[in-house]
Amino acid sequence: MLRSLPAIRPVHRRPASAAFTALAIAPLLATLAACGGEKPAASGGAASPGGPAVQFTEANWTPKREADIPNDSMGASIRRGLYLLRFTPESLPNYATSGLRCTSCHQEDGLKVSAAPLTGSHARFPKYMPRTGTTITLADRVNYCFTRSLAGNVLPVDSREMTDLLAYMQFISQDVPTGYKLTGHDGLISMADTLDGDVARGEALFTAKTCVACHGADGAGMGVLPPLWGAKSYSIGASMSRIERAASFIYHNMPQTAPGTLTPQEAFDLAAYINSKPRPDSPAKELDWPLGGVPKDVPYDTRSGHKAYRPPPLLPRATPERAVVPVPPRAAAGGATR
Ligand code: HEC
Ligand code: HEC
Repeated sequence: MLRSLPAIRPVHRRPASAAFTALAIAPLLATLAACGGEKPAASGGAASPGGPAVQFTEANWTPKREADIPNDSMGASIRRGLYLLRFTPESLPNYATSGLRCTSCHQEDGLKVSAAPLTGSHARFPKYMPRTGTTITLADRVNYCFTRSLAGNVLPVDSREMTDLLAYMQFISQDVPTGYKLTGHDGLISMADTLDGDVARGEALFTAKTCVACHGADGAGMGVLPPLWGAKSYSIGASMSRIERAASFIYHNMPQTAPGTLTPQEAFDLAAYINSKPRPDSPAKELDWPLGGVPKDVPYDTRSGHKAYRPPPLLPRATPERAVVPVPPRAAAGGATR
């Protein structure tokens, strides 16, 4: 009889000899000791103390673009993700039910720094989100935009479409180290909160500054010209429903043909006008910012005690039960789960 079994068994056997274990661990210990006192050589925030140095120089980095998408299976997924970003309502009519597409706000395929850039997002998540009061994944963040910014429905996290969207976001974050925050990539650029928007002035500017030509007198837009208010626009739970957030988008990016021609005050006036108009409701919004710290221009009441700032008239949602992203459990300061 052949004695082949002993030759196979060692694969499953843990190294029993003390000498072998010591040999295997010694170089590791030496490495750890050597690393102990040194600062990592990374230029950014990704290196952890004592960990391997990560070489990343932000100034030399540019995100990959459509032309760089490889011609392989991974490339096919990345390309589908990009097309979902651009043609959201056409591709996902059961989820993107409004007139908006991801690129209505995340301009230039998510690469434009002044339009809530998606470059580097893949490296920034999971991330603590004060509005939710928990740490959330990138897929959850995408769903907050589906349910609030697009006033649509939760896209299943295990769907091919979600995977494709994440594949595209990984592609435009390629080489950015995990945990690294690209400069200025934290949503929309912050505006001075001392300004106050005037609705009547905003209404006059809407015509004077040509907004009406593309977005329409009824704010409903048309085709790739996105709606600014009404049933097909962003919901009250979207960041854009806050006057300061909308003013930042408008100030830096509109009018589309001549961005940079408005004063900050004009941007606030236009934002106040647009956000005074009716828009879709956002179910469970009162649970936002459960730990407080609500920005002053949030236009709805929260249970944490915020009083609505200039609330717009609300339109009912067709499928409110599909418009709420499940909140993951919150880790308490001591590490326990509440
Ligand atoms: C109405 C405008 C709007 C639309 C449409 C929109 N978003 Fe957003 N999104 C924002 C804004 C604004 C932020 C940043 C929040 C802030 O600045 O307060 C954001 C943030 C994000 C983030 C987090 C970025 C980061 O690194 O923190 C992701 C991811 C995202 N959006 C994905 C999407 C996807 C995918 C779609 C399409 C399904 C979409 N968004 C549609 C406005 C929009
Ligand atoms: C030449 C056409 C054009 C003009 C004029 C224009 N926009 Fe836009 N606007 C767009 C397009 C197109 C988008 C979507 C982003 C993209 O495709 O780059 C957009 C997006 C927006 C958005 C974010 C998406 C949404 O629907 O909420 C806001 C807010 C906005 N515009 C406000 C304004 C304001 C205010 C003015 C006037 C100062 C203005 N726009 C002038 C074409 C225009």
